[in-house]
Amino acid sequence: MTPDSAKLLQRIGTPLVFTLSLLPFILLVLQLLTDALGANPIEAFIRHNGEWGLRFLLLTLTMTPLRYVLKQSWPLRYRRMLGLFAFFYVCIHLSSYIVLDQFFDWAEIWADILKRPFITVGMTAFLLLIPLVVTSNKMMMKRLGRNWQRLHRLVYVIAVCAVLHYFWLVKADLYWPTVYAVLLLALFTIRIAKSHAQRTRIS
Ligand code: HEM
Repeated sequence: MTPDSAKLLQRIGTPLVFTLSLLPFILLVLQLLTDALGANPIEAFIRHNGEWGLRFLLLTLTMTPLRYVLKQSWPLRYRRMLGLFAFFYVCIHLSSYIVLDQFFDWAEIWADILKRPFITVGMTAFLLLIPLVVTSNKMMMKRLGRNWQRLHRLVYVIAVCAVLHYFWLVKADLYWPTVYAVLLLALFTIRIAKSHAQRTRIS
């Protein structure tokens, strides 16, 4: 990359990634307001936000392998923002389930968490995301040192829970959960191969 294009990327990169990341939500709200979400708009709204939450989780996980492949550091600049967008979409997904699907019926929600495995595993993914969001800033990164990396490896567990959540809830068409599972496996394999190569170089 030339110094000029690197400068340009630095200047427009963050607002561009931010706007693109917000776009699915804006389009979804527009669809909701114009009655374009089909016969069951509430279910469609919950599902769309869940899918974007999962997509952003996988996108976040793609940034480190992308840095290895491109031998450039810029993908890491967007990792935190993409991770926060994953949390943003999952929060809307969860809130719309609580408000629009369950009407704040906490007893029913609790029963769902205990009885329906796809909700149990989804809730686990959501709760595990919280410490990562809280510690995602530079100050916490410095304060936690090497433990920061250890803690943030949880994102793989979260992604596995999210894919399981998807597998468990679909009854017949396993196409998309399988696509996400294969992508996650590929990202995980690249990560393992890279840390194995680093360890062999050190020893
Ligand atoms: C990291 C956390 C989570 C992710 C990434 C996630 C992702 C997803 C995905 C991909 C879907 C399927 C969308 C589709 O069929 O197109 C979905 C559906 C759903 N999720 Fe989640 N989810 C998460 C957490 C939760 C939590 C905490 C709850 C509730 C406690 C929840 C409740 C639901 C419900 C009710 C559905 C729709 C089921 C239906 O009506 O068919 N999810 N989620």
